[in-house]
Amino acid sequence: MNEVVFVLFLVLLIVSVSDAKITKPNVENFLQCLRSRTSPKNPITEVLYTHDNSTFVSSYVSYTNNKRCSNPKDTKLIAIVAAKHESHVQATVVCAKSNGIQIRIRSGGHDFEGFSYISSVPFVILDMHNFRSITADVSSKKAWVQAGATLGELNTKIADASKTLAFPGGFWSTLGAGGHISGGGYGNLIRKYGISVDHVIDAQLVDANGKILNRASMGEDLFWSIRGGDGASFGVILAWKINLVAVPETLTVFKVTKTLRQEATDVLYKWQLVSSKLPEELFLRAIPEIAEGAKSGEKTIAVKFYAQFLGPAAQLVPIINKNLPELGLKREDCYEMSWLNTTTFWMNFPVGTPTSVLLKRTSGPPRAFYKCKSDYVKEPIPKEGMEKIWKTMLKFNNAFMEWNPYGGVMDRIPANATAFPHRKGNLFKILYCASWNDAKATDANLSLMKELYDVAEPYVSSNPREAFLNYRDMDIGSNPSGKTNINIEEAKIYGSKYFLGNFKRLMETKTKYDPDNFFRYEQSIPPIHAM
Ligand SMILES: Cc1cc2nc3c(=O)[nH]c(=O)nc-3n(C[C@H](O)[C@H](O)[C@H](O)COP(=O)(O)OP(=O)(O)OC[C@H]3O[C@@H](n4cnc5c(N)ncnc54)[C@H](O)[C@@H]3O)c2cc1C
Ligand SMILES: *[C@@H]1O[C@H](CO)[C@@H](O)[C@H](O)[C@H]1NC(C)=O
Ligand SMILES: *[C@@H]1O[C@H](CO)[C@@H](O)[C@H](O)[C@H]1NC(C)=O
Ligand SMILES: *[C@@H]1O[C@H](CO)[C@@H](O)[C@H](O)[C@H]1NC(C)=O
Ligand SMILES: *[C@@H]1O[C@H](CO)[C@@H](O)[C@H](O)[C@H]1NC(C)=O
Repeated sequence: MNEVVFVLFLVLLIVSVSDAKITKPNVENFLQCLRSRTSPKNPITEVLYTHDNSTFVSSYVSYTNNKRCSNPKDTKLIAIVAAKHESHVQATVVCAKSNGIQIRIRSGGHDFEGFSYISSVPFVILDMHNFRSITADVSSKKAWVQAGATLGELNTKIADASKTLAFPGGFWSTLGAGGHISGGGYGNLIRKYGISVDHVIDAQLVDANGKILNRASMGEDLFWSIRGGDGASFGVILAWKINLVAVPETLTVFKVTKTLRQEATDVLYKWQLVSSKLPEELFLRAIPEIAEGAKSGEKTIAVKFYAQFLGPAAQLVPIINKNLPELGLKREDCYEMSWLNTTTFWMNFPVGTPTSVLLKRTSGPPRAFYKCKSDYVKEPIPKEGMEKIWKTMLKFNNAFMEWNPYGGVMDRIPANATAFPHRKGNLFKILYCASWNDAKATDANLSLMKELYDVAEPYVSSNPREAFLNYRDMDIGSNPSGKTNINIEEAKIYGSKYFLGNFKRLMETKTKYDPDNFFRYEQSIPPIHAM
């Protein structure tokens, strides 16, 4: 053998060995490993689903929110481990890692791009929905919440213990504490108290070696990283310890709608000037959406103004009428209720709906195909810009936006206090969503979504164009999940949009705690040596 051929032979050998490691995961060894690493006292068989189990599909779809990403027949999906005991989580991590199998961690299953339940390489879903205990302690104003608990369960548990305590989390009761909190966790207490990660004081996590760590044993770099810096890149969150915040016994909410014919554009323009400067006790969200026009078959834009005030209606009405008289708010538009009842209001349930609806964990198989995107706005969008946005939106059958006001305490929390960076200097954050009900319409709706994003570009943050991790969006940059290595240059694109100046520290932490890059997916944080 001459030298050139020998070198070529070596190269081929190396390539085929590393290929084998990636593309031929050892499923039998994996299952065997799971059994050997768990005790019969907490049998893994009771929580392990493979395609052979008759309940496999229902276990897959019950926590799958977006029909666009759902694929229960996926042959790349080896198994679902619906962990009931810590040892199930530890074994899944260790056995997947040693057998070249990727995992996807799922708590509530709301990831907009389905990253918790799809992959293009062989994978196992580590499903946390059985990890759902919550203990709330009123005297210390603290609680432990496990990753698979929903926000509805958390809010109910807190309200059962005290009518004047709450947790600043998101608007939807079925969101899982695992994904929601590690991504930032944004809700209607943002202006008064900030976001979920601002109230996390400890955590339990299983790292890439299968070890259980808490804040003291993980150290401050890792603890900082999992607060808004993407938990799924660092480990499996088992539970969070959180601080509870004070809310009054009576809050006030209202919903007022203006259509384009009722000067919605003018009112919303004025909203842009005042909403981030109102008292911190007031959160006034605007939802531009497609609505029926005056004539049948005609479409228009209606802007719903949704408000929550930490106080009585008698105080709220004058504040609105002084700052945004264009809304024409009347006392009879307002409802006074408890904090827990406001959470049903924000989910669009009629006033008076029993709060037991908050305990419904899943809505079963996903019903709609959808796509969402996000933006941060730092200067008011001129009326011409708003009109361009409406014009594009009206090409959809079904689309809405949420304009979520900033200001308040968000201006005072430093951008590096946690890994979540979008703080001072924002007027509001936009969420764009479109939904449809026919798989054949997916491409057309996705490309229209891109058009809408392009139309908005001149009016939103730039260099980078910021994005909210919890509003996951593949289009802003991603790696093919089949690769072991992650392209650092690509990662810097999405990393700088999600994490701004915090991305570097996140990569450094990743390098320290998961140098082999076991916890990876299309938009994960790579170790510095990855390429
Ligand atoms: C209807 C709806 C309403 C929403 N409203 C809000 C809102 O008001 N405020 C807001 O901030 N966001 C909101 N979101 C976005 C939501 O917060 C994110 O989708 C969040 O990631 C959901 O968490 P999950 O556990 O339910 O989802 P999952 O799909 O289970 O997880 C999302 C991501 O987190 C990872 N992950 C999940 N569990 C763990 C864990 N235990 N350890 C490590 N990583 C984990 C997953 O791998 C995935 O990458 C909403 C989404 C939907 C669909
Ligand atoms: C799946 O099927 C196997 C084999 O029949 C069984 O041992 C296991 O308990 C089933 N898993 C669940 C979660 O029911
Ligand atoms: C909350 O809603 C329930 C169910 O409609 C109602 O019975 C109760 O009076 C409400 N309580 C408060 C304080 O708003
Ligand atoms: C944030 O940055 C400031 C200024 O660079 C620094 O003093 C501070 O220690 C940083 N805080 C954290 C939590 O890293
Ligand atoms: C989006 O999907 C719907 C089906 O729900 C379809 O009727 C519509 O034409 C699609 N939109 C576009 C812009 O193609």
